[in-house]
Amino acid sequence: MEENGTTTPPSKAGNSNLVFAVNGEKFEVANIDPSTTLLQFLRYHTRFKSAKLSCGEGGCGACVVMLSKYNPELGQVEDFSVSSCLTLLCSVDNCSITTSDGLGNSKDGFHPIHQRFAGFHASQCGYCTPGMCMSFFAALAQAEKANRPEPPPGFSKLTVVEAEKAIAGNLCRCTGYRPIADACKSFAADVDLEDLGLNSFWRKGEPKEVKLRRLPLYTPDGKFSRFPEFLRGRSKSAMILHLKGKSWYSPTTIEDVKSLLNSNMIEDNMQIRLVVGNTGMGYYKELDNYDRYIDLRYVPELSTIRKNHRGIEIGAAVTISKVISCLKEEGNVYYSSDSKQVFEKLADHMEKIASGFIRNSASIGGNLVMAQRKSFPSDIATILLAVGSLVSITSGHKHESLTLEEFFSRPPMDSRSVLLSVHIPSLKPKGSGYSNESNSKLIFETYRAAPRPLGNALPYLNAAFLADVSPQVNGLIVNDIQLAFGVYGTKHPTRARKVEEYLSGKILTASILYEAVKLVKAGVIPETGTSHAAYRTSLAVGLLFQFLFPYVNVGSAICDGLSNGFAGNLLKDSSENHKENSLHQSASSKLLSSGKQEVKSSKEHYPVGEPTTKSGAAIQASGEAVFVDDIPSPPNCLYGAFIYSTKPLARIKGVELIPNNRITGVAALISYKDISERGENVGSMTKRGFEPLFADEFTRCAGEPIAFVVAESQKSADLAARSALVKYDTENLDPPILTVEEAVEKSSFFEIPAFLYPAQVGDFSKGMAEADHRILSAEIKLGSQYYFYMETQTALAVPDEDNCILVYSSTQSAEHMHITIAKCLGIPEHNVRVITRRVGGGFGGKLMRSMPVATACALAAYKLRCPVRTYLNRKTDMIMIGGRHPMKITYNVGFKSSGKVTALHLDILINAGLSAEISPILPLTLIGTLKKYNWGALSFDIKVCKTNHSTKSIMRAPGEVQGSYIADAIMEQIASMLSMEVDSVRNINLHTFESLKVFYGEAAGEALEYTLTDMWEKLGASSRLVQRTEMIEQFNRINTWKKRGISRVPIVYGVAVVSTPGKVSILSDGSIVVEVGGIEIGQGLWTKVKQVTAYALSLIGCNGTENLVEKVRVVQSDTLSLVQGGYTGRSTKSESSCEAVRLCCNLLVERLAPLKSKLQEQMGSVNWEVLIVQAYSQSVNLAAHSYYVPASNSIHYLNYGAAVGEVEINILTGETKILQADIIYDCGKSMNPAVDLGQIEGAFAQGVGFFMLEEFVINADGLTISDGTWTYKIPAIDNIPMLLNVEVVNSGHQEKRVLSSKASGEPPLVLAASVHCATRAAIKEARKQLNTWSRLDGPDSAFDLDVPAIMPVVKKACGLDNVEKYLESLLH
Ligand SMILES: Cc1cc2nc3c(=O)[nH]c(=O)nc-3n(C[C@H](O)[C@H](O)[C@H](O)COP(=O)(O)OP(=O)(O)OC[C@H]3O[C@@H](n4cnc5c(N)ncnc54)[C@H](O)[C@@H]3O)c2cc1C
Ligand code: FES
Ligand code: FES
Repeated sequence: MEENGTTTPPSKAGNSNLVFAVNGEKFEVANIDPSTTLLQFLRYHTRFKSAKLSCGEGGCGACVVMLSKYNPELGQVEDFSVSSCLTLLCSVDNCSITTSDGLGNSKDGFHPIHQRFAGFHASQCGYCTPGMCMSFFAALAQAEKANRPEPPPGFSKLTVVEAEKAIAGNLCRCTGYRPIADACKSFAADVDLEDLGLNSFWRKGEPKEVKLRRLPLYTPDGKFSRFPEFLRGRSKSAMILHLKGKSWYSPTTIEDVKSLLNSNMIEDNMQIRLVVGNTGMGYYKELDNYDRYIDLRYVPELSTIRKNHRGIEIGAAVTISKVISCLKEEGNVYYSSDSKQVFEKLADHMEKIASGFIRNSASIGGNLVMAQRKSFPSDIATILLAVGSLVSITSGHKHESLTLEEFFSRPPMDSRSVLLSVHIPSLKPKGSGYSNESNSKLIFETYRAAPRPLGNALPYLNAAFLADVSPQVNGLIVNDIQLAFGVYGTKHPTRARKVEEYLSGKILTASILYEAVKLVKAGVIPETGTSHAAYRTSLAVGLLFQFLFPYVNVGSAICDGLSNGFAGNLLKDSSENHKENSLHQSASSKLLSSGKQEVKSSKEHYPVGEPTTKSGAAIQASGEAVFVDDIPSPPNCLYGAFIYSTKPLARIKGVELIPNNRITGVAALISYKDISERGENVGSMTKRGFEPLFADEFTRCAGEPIAFVVAESQKSADLAARSALVKYDTENLDPPILTVEEAVEKSSFFEIPAFLYPAQVGDFSKGMAEADHRILSAEIKLGSQYYFYMETQTALAVPDEDNCILVYSSTQSAEHMHITIAKCLGIPEHNVRVITRRVGGGFGGKLMRSMPVATACALAAYKLRCPVRTYLNRKTDMIMIGGRHPMKITYNVGFKSSGKVTALHLDILINAGLSAEISPILPLTLIGTLKKYNWGALSFDIKVCKTNHSTKSIMRAPGEVQGSYIADAIMEQIASMLSMEVDSVRNINLHTFESLKVFYGEAAGEALEYTLTDMWEKLGASSRLVQRTEMIEQFNRINTWKKRGISRVPIVYGVAVVSTPGKVSILSDGSIVVEVGGIEIGQGLWTKVKQVTAYALSLIGCNGTENLVEKVRVVQSDTLSLVQGGYTGRSTKSESSCEAVRLCCNLLVERLAPLKSKLQEQMGSVNWEVLIVQAYSQSVNLAAHSYYVPASNSIHYLNYGAAVGEVEINILTGETKILQADIIYDCGKSMNPAVDLGQIEGAFAQGVGFFMLEEFVINADGLTISDGTWTYKIPAIDNIPMLLNVEVVNSGHQEKRVLSSKASGEPPLVLAASVHCATRAAIKEARKQLNTWSRLDGPDSAFDLDVPAIMPVVKKACGLDNVEKYLESLLH
C-alpha cells in the first residue's frame, strides 16, 4: 500500500489466457481487446456464424447463444441463454458456448428444433431463426435438469406455456410468431398435438400415433448439451489479460477489487469499467473502449444470496434471473406469508424486465448503479423502493448502508465506489396507533405500463405500492402506506410522500381516494420535455386507483377475509364490485398465441399446391444459410460506416474525423468529391430521377449520407463515423420544408405522371347533392413506419480485374443496383456484377434504399482497390433509410340516412421527403384500396410533397394500407354520425360486381372472381360475429375498467404482374438448377419456383418425376447471369418468376419429348435420369431461358379478403390486448398454402405494428429519434392476437392468373385495420361510460383515434381523467 492510499493493481494473476469452448471446440485466447463481444468473436474469429447481429443492444434476440458454466459449489453445469452482442468475450472464460450451428447442421444431421422449426413453417427470411432456436434450446436444457416428472418419450419437461414464453424476448418481423410458438410447443410435455397448427409432418385428422411418429424425435440430454471435460476441471482464479495497454481483471476477493480501484489507475486518468453482465452497454452504447475492466462476478461477497429472518441480502453481481428464482423459492422458514407474497410479486415484476437472455446475465447491482448514476429508467429501483430496501456500498475505505431513497438522492456514484449488496427486508404488518396489530395485513402490488405485456419494453411508468391495512367496522383503515413511482420522466423513482401521509390513518372511502388521487396528480409530474407527460400522470392516478379501489367501502365480510389470506386474493371472488375490477389478474399464465388454419391444397398441378416446407428453412434454423454479412471477408477487406446529416437544410462547411487513440485504422473518408469525372453522384435511380449518393455542398435532409468512413474494422468505422464533426452553416438559406403544409405554401411537389394518376369516378357535386348528411373538412393524419428487417442494410464490394467490381448485396433489386453502381463509378454495366443470395427481410426497404449502401461500398472499393463492406448499425439504418409515407388527408363525404355513401372527395398531401423515388405511384396504390367501397362518386386531389425529410420509400402495402384505412375511418365517422353499427354501414357500401367494374375497370375481371361478398358473409358466420358482438355488449355492461370491441373490415387490393426472366438448366445427373429474376426475401419465392419447375418438367411424363422437386435448386441472383431481373416487391414477383420458369420448362419438355418417345418405344418406360443421360449424349440443349411478359389484359387483378378483430382495452392504462382475429383470404389456387399462410399471418402482424404499436418519432429537424429497439416497438409474441384463425380460400380457376394462383405478400397487412377499428369500438364504450359519469347526455361525438393507437393514444381517447370522473360520479 502506498502512502497516499493507492496501490498498484494486484499481480497475482492465476490465468492470463481465456479458455472456453464453442460447440465443443476448445478456444484459447491470449490477446484480445477486452471490449470484444462474444458475438464479434464468433462472427469474425470462428466458423460459427449462426448468431446474427441485428440490434446490437439486447433488444431482439438474433444473437442469442447458450452459455454453460460449471458451478463447483453445486457440482452442476448451469445452462442459460445470453445475448452474445452484449456479452464480453473475457467474461466467457471457462464457459462452453453453444450456437445453433453447433446443435446440428446439414452435414451431421439437424437438431429436432431445426427440423420442427422448418416443418412448422416457422422460418421465413431466417434471420431471427437461429436466435429463436437457441433461446428455446436453452429453455429445454434448463427444463431437463428440473426436478419434474419424466415427460412422455419424445417430449421435454417444459409446459406449453413455458415453451412459448421461452422465445418471448426474440423478435421476428416475418412470421407473426404463431408458427414459431407452435414449433416450440410441439416439445412440451402437456401439448395436445391437435392444437398445433399447419405443418409438414402430418395432415389434419391423422391419428395421434401417426402424428407422434412423424414428428422429428427429441431425446433429452443429447450430445449437444454436454459440457466439455477440459473445462470441468478448471477453477476460476484471478485473471488478468492485457492487450495494447488495455486490461481485464477478474479479481476473486473484494480486497482485490478495492486495491484495483485504489491503485493509481484513476489518477492516471484511465477509463475504468466495473462490469458484470455488460448489458448496460445495450442502453448506453458506450462505444468508448475502456482501459481497465474489472469483472465483479467472481467476488463471493458480490455473488451470493443470504437469507435470514431480517430479509434477503443479495450480492450486487447476482443476476436478475437468480434473484427471481430466490424470491420464488418455496418452503422458506424465515418469512411470513405476507413477506412471501411480496417476494413473489417482486419476482413476477422482475420477470418482465428485458427478456430471459438479458436477465440471465444482467445483475441487480448493475441495474441499480445505472439508475443511480445515469438515471436509467429502472424497474428494480422502483419496486425495491416501495418495500424499503437498503444497499451497501463501499467507496475507498468507507463502507455504508443506505436506504434506496438516500442512495438515489446522492450525487452519481464515482468510479471508485462499488455497490456490494441489496437488502430486501422481510416484511410483516405492524398495525399502528390507528388499529390493532393482530388483524392488520399487508397488501402489495407492482405495476408497469409497457407496450409489451411480458417485457422487453421499458414502461411509460412503473409503480409499487405497499400498504399495511386493518379491517374496521366501517371499512378498511390504512395504517401505513408506501407508494413508489418511477420511469415517468424523473431522474429517479420517488415516494409519493404527501399521498402516503394523507392516506395514513384513513378509512378507505371514495372521497378519501378522490383526494389521494388529486394529490398524485399534483405530485407525479414528468420533467419538461418528457413524451406523453399527461398520460404518465394519468397512469399514476389510474394505478393507485387500481390498487386501492377494491378496498373502498368494503363490507365486513371482505374485512374478515383479510385475516384469512393475502388481500390480493379477494379480488377474484368477491362481490360484483370487485369482480369488475379484476385488473390484477395476470394474463401471463395463459397461452400467448393459438389459432386455426384452414387451407386447401390442390393436386391438379402437383407438387404445385402442396404446403411444402420452405426451401432452405432447416439451414436457416441451423444458421448455415449464408447472408451477406456471413460471407467471410476477403484479405485486406476494409469496413465502412456512414456519416449522416443531422440538419434538414444546411451548407456543409466541413467534415472532420476527431482523432482518438481508441479509433484505429481509419483508411479513408469517402464523399461526393471521390466520384470520378466519368461517374455521377448517384445513390439510387428510378425512371423518374435519381437521388445523390452523398450530400454535396448542401445537405437537404437529416439522415442524408454525407460521407463514408472506411476503416480496418466495422467497430472502428462506426466509432469514427459516430464521433465525426460536421460543420454546418445555415446563413442566408431559406428555412427547410418540414411539413406538407409548408410544401403546399411553397408549391414543392413531385410531378405525378398522368398514367400514374388514378381516374376519378362519377360526378362528385351530383353525389353530394343527393346526400342526406355530410361530413365536411374532416382530417386524418397518418405517420411513418420503419421496415425493421432483422438484417440491416449490408453490402460487400470486391474489386476485380480490368476495372470490374463484384458486389454482394442484400437487395430486392439487384438489376437497378447494378445500373446505379455503374453510373456512379462511370464504368460500363458489364464491369459490374451484383449477387444476392438471400435477404434477411426486406418489406420494400431493400428495394431502393439498399442501393446507396452498396454503391458507397463499391465506390470506396473501386477507389481504394480493396474489398470494402458495411453492415449498418441499427441506429444508422433507422435514421438513414426512411420508411412509409406520412400523409394528411382532408375529406368531404355525403351519405344517405341509410348509411349509403353518395360522394367522397379527398385532398391528400403525401410527404415523400427529399426525392421522388417511387413516391409517384402512391396516388394509384392509395386510391386502389380506398375504392374498396362504392362511394357513389369519388374525386380527389393528391399532391406528392417534396420536403426536407429523408426519402420515403415503399413499404409493404405502400399507399394501400393508408388508402384502405382511410376508407374505414370514413365509414366509422359516418356510422358515428348516424348512430348506426359501423358493420352495417360497411356492408351497405360494399361493391356489387357492377359497381366494382365501374371503380376498377378491367382489373375487376370476371363476376365469378369477385369473391369478396361471399367471403364477407362466410367470415361473419365462421367468426360468429353476431354472437360475439352480443357477448361483448354484455361484457361491456358489467365491466367498468375493461372494454371490448369487435370489427370486421374488407379489402380489395389491386396488384400488377411484372415481367421477369427465368433460366432452367438440367445437369447430367438429372438435377436441375434454376435462376429467376425474383429474389428470396423470406416470402417463399424459391419454394414456389421449385414446385413449379418440378410440375412443369414432370409433364415430360417419364418415371421418377414424382419427386423431382427434390432435384431442383434455385440459386442466387446474379445480374450478369440473368439480366432484366427487375424489382422483387409488390407481391407478384413470385408468380411471375414461376411463370418464367414454367416457360423455360415448357421449352425443355418440348426439346426432350422426341427423345423420350424414342426411348419409350425402345425401352417401354423411361426413367428421368436415363432420359437426361441420353439427352446429354445426343446434344439436346438442356438450358432454357425465358422472359415472361404478362399479356396486357392480365397485368392487373384484384385480391380480396376480410378480417374480424376483437380487442380488450384497459381504460386505466390504455393497454390493448388483441383477443382474437379471424382472417379470410382468397389466394386463388394457392401454389403453396403453407407459404401463403405464412405471408398472411406475417403481414397481418406487421399491420398490427403499424396500426397499434410502431411510433416512428422524429425531432423538429426531421431526424429520427426512434432509433433502436428501445424506442421502436415492433410486435413481439405478446402483442399478436391470442387467437388467430386464418382461412386461405381456394377460389378455383382464375383464367388469367399463373396456375390460377393469386398474390399474398402484401394485401393481408391491410386487414390489421380491423384491430384498430375494434379498438375504436371499445373506446366508444369507454367514452359512453365517461359521459354518464360526467352527466353528459346524448350520443358521443365522433373522435379521432391516431395511428398507431399506442397506449397513450387509447388512454387519452378514454379520458385521461376517467378515474377522477368516476369518483366524482360516486361522490355527487
Ligand atoms: C434489452 C434490455 C432491456 C432492459 N429492460 C429493462 C427493464 O425493462 N427494466 C429495468 O429495470 N431494466 C432493464 N434493463 C436493464 C438491465 O436490468 C441492466 O442492463 C442490467 O441489470 C445491468 O446489469 P449488468 O450486470 O449487465 O451491468 P453492467 O452493464 O455490467 O454494468 C452497468 C453499469 O453499472 C456499473 N456497475 C455494475 N455493477 C456495479 C457494482 N456492483 N458497483 C458499482 N458499479 C457497478 C458498471 O460499471 C456499469 O457502469 C434492460 C437491459 C437491456 C439490455
Ligand atoms: S443483436 Fe443482440 S439482442 Fe439484438
Ligand atoms: S423469419 Fe423471423 S425475422 Fe424473418
